[in-house]
Amino acid sequence: MLGRSSELAAVSPFSTPPAAYTADLVVFGGTGDLSMRKLIPALYHSDRDGRLSPETRIIAMSRGGLTDADFRGKVDAEVRDQVPVEDPAMWQRFLGRLHHVSVDVGEAATDRAGWSALTALLAGHEQRDRVFYLASPPMTFGPFCRQLDEAGLVTPMSRVVLEKPLGRDLPSAQRINDEVGAIFDERQIFRIDHYLGKETVQNLLVLRFANAFLEPIWNSLWIDHVQITAAETVGTPGRRGYYDQAGALRDMVQNHLLQLLTLTAMEPPARSDQEAIRDEKVKVLQALRPIAGTEVDRFTVRGQYTRGQGEAGDMPGYLDEPASTPPTDASRRVETFTAIRAEIKNWRWAGVPFYLRTGKRLPNRRSEIVVQFKDVPHSIFPGGAPNRLVLRLQPEEGIELHIMAKEPGAGDVTLKPVPLSLSFGKTFTARVPEAYERLLTDVLAGNPTLFMRRDEVEAAWRWIDPILSAWESSADLPEPYPAGTTGPAGAHELLGRSGRAWHEEEA
Ligand code: BG6
Repeated sequence: MLGRSSELAAVSPFSTPPAAYTADLVVFGGTGDLSMRKLIPALYHSDRDGRLSPETRIIAMSRGGLTDADFRGKVDAEVRDQVPVEDPAMWQRFLGRLHHVSVDVGEAATDRAGWSALTALLAGHEQRDRVFYLASPPMTFGPFCRQLDEAGLVTPMSRVVLEKPLGRDLPSAQRINDEVGAIFDERQIFRIDHYLGKETVQNLLVLRFANAFLEPIWNSLWIDHVQITAAETVGTPGRRGYYDQAGALRDMVQNHLLQLLTLTAMEPPARSDQEAIRDEKVKVLQALRPIAGTEVDRFTVRGQYTRGQGEAGDMPGYLDEPASTPPTDASRRVETFTAIRAEIKNWRWAGVPFYLRTGKRLPNRRSEIVVQFKDVPHSIFPGGAPNRLVLRLQPEEGIELHIMAKEPGAGDVTLKPVPLSLSFGKTFTARVPEAYERLLTDVLAGNPTLFMRRDEVEAAWRWIDPILSAWESSADLPEPYPAGTTGPAGAHELLGRSGRAWHEEEA
């Protein structure tokens, strides 16, 4: 177990990376959807921006039986159109970095030929950084790490990147963490949540902790509630095999939405080392009030989309989506929408609900954090509305502060809510990097700040598990909502009960 005593240098949380990295990047699941749509384009951008040294290699592992030339041809055909190729020679140089090694995922333990081919390719480069990126199903994480160890491929400069989902509940997550932790030191393990690579998410930290004006009012005295939404227009065509077993709670809430919640609610870190931010995030997860048993019905909503209409016409329901197998009982029970009223039991947030919501086939693609302030204590004007801060992750990343202003005119004073608006796209001319690009650069720099630590992932599952088990033991099916609508009626009642409404319903 060479990798036990990591020699990865300690880096400060937001350190500037050195100019170019020399590494062997081995991607398991290297010809899969994630790799072709996100990882390879992100690596191309890194190359184009000069962050990969000429020696850096990208090695895709898959059962595809491809040669290097086949794989390069596949990337040329499928990725070239996704990225700006201004310089064909540069593109050819990037293709030259690509290699392919065939390994059978199902037969990981016995596929000697595959492991020998990888060993031969890596031989002689032991001093380089090695990144093993596991973009493969979570049940392969343990076996792959064991194989890497047995083949002697885990060096002190190695890192392993784990894609979500990390397990399907707390026990399975713990098992994976134990298996991976037996080979790699925690400092070498990078559990990825691509939401943490989004610009606005990092800007949330800057907004909160690099400006003095927000902190005094960032608490239950001034904030009424917070809404965290990740709404998608896409459905799940071709993904039923995965989605039936996941559902919106495991797919989006356990990771992405809870990460957004922790960054919104965490205390200012006392130190600036790489663990300080993660220490504060985990405290938020540990302070979440459990939702269990009969409370689950009151504080959570689940829905499933049915056939509906959108801008592009008729849209299938979840059960009618194209899939390789017909729907099962699990398909009928899985939620494609969920909304939850969460509470954080600490001094700062006591009594402030955090509403989490995500769903597929909603009318608009929108991810945002909305901080709804309380009304003025005593109003001298009619018709005011409380302030609201909107941090938009997509479609157009930006920040809006909704304030009250006087509508111009003589006569009565008429108030109007108007946004003070910052659009990153318009304010900064620099290209906004894709989340994966930032995160891959951090992996190469050995900077784990924007990755989930073991205790964080497990604390998130600890909160999610009782909700999952109440849903699983309930005879009720998810509430239907037609594709192209804003979700089931229950989601509106969840806020309506306390006289609140989702942000877009009030706009
Ligand atoms: C992934 C989920 O993690 O995030 C997908 O598995 C989801 O179901 C995606 O569509 C959303 O990411 P983004 O960046 O498009 O909001």
